[in-house]
Amino acid sequence: MQNSSEDDNSLDPQDWESFRASAHNALDVAIDYVRTVRERPVWRPVPENIRESLNEPLPLEQRSIEDVCADFRDLILPYATGNIHPRFFGWVHGAGLASGIIAEMFAAAMNSNCGGRNHGAIYVEDAVIRWCEDLFSFPPDASGLLVSGTSMANLIGIAVARNSRERGDIRALGLKHYGRPLVAYASEQAHDSVLKAMEVLGLGSESLRKIPVGFRFSIDLAMLRKAVAADRSAGIEPFCIIGCAGTVNTGAIDPLNELASFCADEKLWFHVDGAFGALAIASESLRSRLAGIERADSLAFDFHKWPQIQYDAGCILVRQGDLQRAAFSMRPAYLHHVDRGLGSGEDWPCDYGPELSRGFRALKIWFAFREHGLRKIAAVIERNCQQARYLADRVASIPELELLAPVDLNIVCFGFRVPGFSEPELDALNEEIVADLQESGAAAPSTTRVSGRLAIRVNITNHRTRFSDLDVLVDTVLAAGRTRSNRSRS
Ligand SMILES: Cc1ncc(COP(=O)(O)O)c(C=O)c1O
Repeated sequence: MQNSSEDDNSLDPQDWESFRASAHNALDVAIDYVRTVRERPVWRPVPENIRESLNEPLPLEQRSIEDVCADFRDLILPYATGNIHPRFFGWVHGAGLASGIIAEMFAAAMNSNCGGRNHGAIYVEDAVIRWCEDLFSFPPDASGLLVSGTSMANLIGIAVARNSRERGDIRALGLKHYGRPLVAYASEQAHDSVLKAMEVLGLGSESLRKIPVGFRFSIDLAMLRKAVAADRSAGIEPFCIIGCAGTVNTGAIDPLNELASFCADEKLWFHVDGAFGALAIASESLRSRLAGIERADSLAFDFHKWPQIQYDAGCILVRQGDLQRAAFSMRPAYLHHVDRGLGSGEDWPCDYGPELSRGFRALKIWFAFREHGLRKIAAVIERNCQQARYLADRVASIPELELLAPVDLNIVCFGFRVPGFSEPELDALNEEIVADLQESGAAAPSTTRVSGRLAIRVNITNHRTRFSDLDVLVDTVLAAGRTRSNRSRS
């Protein structure tokens, strides 16, 4: 029998009631933080003294949980990315859900390892994957996996595409035994995670052919056909086409049906990067824009973007589930299949991706869809697209502003212009305007380049954004632009 001093070695609270009080206080802090977000600046830089405090050496001794919470409140909480704020418009960030606090807390309490085995969390992930398969009209023998984000989902999709070529066992022999070089194709607007996937998979970034885009920033099909034909006649083997369902720069959607047909004709894998745009399928009014997505061999998308679910949460779906399993399943003796007990269950998530130990990502997704339902999430998506059109109309109506790309979904690229300024001067000015806005805490757009020009890029994937927030954005851009351009004139 163990003695009491050994029992004391547990890391559990010594006094559960005092832990309960601290945890309730912490929950109040978290709820107040989300509830009052509109009253704070979108973003503020981390001061030097705070950075120094965070740079402390590895603690060796115990501290009370109250102390740790107090440090968190003072040193970390005020300096968030800002994406829960209604005027965060940078990159493609979701805003998160208040109830995500509860889901994350429960997931932490269970501390499930979702690599596999037979327990409730696995069935929750199965349910979430089934919802996704239904949403995208994938067949019953499709498979899927929750991952950290679309970067990982793209990597897995392209890995399955690579491994599913008919010739050679790439898993056993590696690429050098494959024979001919393998190449993939995507529009030049495709996200760099596709490029990274090509590098990580040993295919090389030069093996991603970047196909030019047309006026609306979607892939030029004629150029794609030419590039595939040229590679084939040079003895190079095309294996995959990556279609974009919402490009990161402008939100452009490639012609997915045409890409699917071309892939079928050419016997190529059709992977779709739908990081944020894929979820527009939830909206009746936007769905037709994604026609053909249901024909993808693999589809990558995120829950942490438009569905507003807390980071991190992405998904990969593969039409032919056995191919995903064949690319990743590996069961050493200590994980071998058994019929009974905790180690049972046929399909383990670790059979469908590179990770063995995995957290309970599915719970926050399950919570969000059960609480809000797909219709409410679709309404957010539709409203964000209306807001993007509203902003584009405002930009078009103000002579000092110019729209730099067509608005397909939820992204608006525009610039402040000044007669007589050269393009490099305008680029520098717009870069400064964005930094001014971020540093003032008024709004946080980001920048990108479209057709060679630096653009103020406004992405709206935020359930808290109101139309009036876009008015604030326009007013602050105009004020910053006028101040800076007057200054450089005088
Ligand atoms: C089109 C597109 N693909 C891929 C990604 C990468 O997604 P994640 O950041 O979830 O890995 C993004 C991120 O914004 C994206 O917009």
